[in-house]
Amino acid sequence: MQLCVIGAGYVGLVTAACFAEMGNRVICVERDSTRLAQLRDGHCPIHEPGLDSLLHQHLASGQLSFSASLRGSALHAQVIFIAVGTPQQEDGSADLRHVLAVADELGRVLRKPCIVVNKSTVPVGSAERVEQRIRSGLQQRGLSFSVPVLSNPEFLKEGSALEDFTRPDRVIIGSDCAQAGEALRRLYAPFVRNHERILLMPRREAEFSKYAANAFLATKISFINEMASLCARLGVDIEQVRHGIGSDRRIGTHFIYAGCGYGGSCFPKDVRALIRCAEQLGIEPGVLRAVEARNALQKTLLFQALREHFSGVLQGRVVTLWGLSFKPGTDDLREAPSLVLLDALLLAGCQVRAYDPVANEGVASRYPREVASGQLQLCGNALEAVEASEALILVTEWKQFRQPDFARVRHLMHRPLLLDGRNLYDPAELRALGFVYQGVGRATQGHCKEEAA
Ligand SMILES: NC(=O)c1ccc[n+]([C@@H]2O[C@H](COP(=O)([O-])OP(=O)(O)OC[C@H]3O[C@@H](n4cnc5c(N)ncnc54)[C@H](O)[C@@H]3O)[C@@H](O)[C@H]2O)c1
Repeated sequence: MQLCVIGAGYVGLVTAACFAEMGNRVICVERDSTRLAQLRDGHCPIHEPGLDSLLHQHLASGQLSFSASLRGSALHAQVIFIAVGTPQQEDGSADLRHVLAVADELGRVLRKPCIVVNKSTVPVGSAERVEQRIRSGLQQRGLSFSVPVLSNPEFLKEGSALEDFTRPDRVIIGSDCAQAGEALRRLYAPFVRNHERILLMPRREAEFSKYAANAFLATKISFINEMASLCARLGVDIEQVRHGIGSDRRIGTHFIYAGCGYGGSCFPKDVRALIRCAEQLGIEPGVLRAVEARNALQKTLLFQALREHFSGVLQGRVVTLWGLSFKPGTDDLREAPSLVLLDALLLAGCQVRAYDPVANEGVASRYPREVASGQLQLCGNALEAVEASEALILVTEWKQFRQPDFARVRHLMHRPLLLDGRNLYDPAELRALGFVYQGVGRATQGHCKEEAA
């Protein structure tokens, strides 16, 4: 099939590359000229495992190409995917500006029937709005053919996006047009050959399913984080509790890891958009508000722990951060807990040494003044980052931080404080090595000292 994907971000690039892999001819449209130039030169502008080589392969084979022109790219496409950003507006609601701009442009350029599929996360009713905008553009040009707009929310996770796209738990296709729904089902068929996982439903239900899924996952995280706070006060280890509850299949083992809060381009903005939607409908979103409030609090806990440890005296202290991206496997910094922590540390006058396997550059461009003044040093590796440090804070649980040479880390550090924002380490082991260890909702220090003894 001839496909067009609009937006070469995390979702658009993965969608384009994976459909090209299945033998479709895909043109991906990107309006950011720097990003477009990178892509045309064969450089993947984002860090996503496996994506680089897939893009290379299909650029070389001609199955995939990149363009700045929606007009030229959309004209011959049978299916057009919209994968542009839907950031948050000031009031929390989803900003549909980019999606609607694409709809208007499609109305101005389309010359024959095709299917438009919205992969961006959008509020209920957006597919109807997009369809209506395209229709009125066509009418202004004296054209009246049908362009059904489908909702096909994306559920990929950054860091495992290719795996998620090619072996999805489910593909939701929201369509009010049976023929178009069937065409999209056929396009996805190669990804679900061994097990039917395509769910066809009306558009509004598909649109809402995406928000409900993200809100539920965010709720699980905030729930376990609240339990962790209780555990910390009760001298109970949340990690053992996690195993205790996760073995219940009704609860499950996923998304019940206590930590320093969720971030990323989806959960925070999607929870807020749902809160705003409820407010507009006159429904009190008590659960969602609590999820959001707990997450905001969670992002401040590591700084609070540090301040408490040093009795409020932080000026000039050398503090190390391991991990900056909002989660492992990606360079995405949107709403990352590390940024809240960095802001607080820099404001308190700390000297920050940070290392992330892929996100150093992104952080450097967000803090140019602090980097230039030397208050923030982005280091080339994990050990370099802990040199002369008075506190090591694990923020993002990249695999390379799982089993570092802690004897060496301890030796390099000036003081042995370790704040584990992802409960990655064994408190007893770390304390036995001489660290002052604090996790999120782990057993109290005294209790663990006894364990270690
Ligand atoms: N990132 C994720 O993990 C993820 C997962 C599921 C769903 N989503 C949703 O998918 C959508 C896209 O997310 P993303 O993270 O890929 O966004 P992104 O910001 O990484 O990428 C969007 C891209 O679209 C481009 N763009 C915007 N308007 C354009 C236009 N008119 N023509 C051509 N290009 C245009 C931008 O320049 C940008 O490169 C959002 O609604 C998001 O909520 C994201």
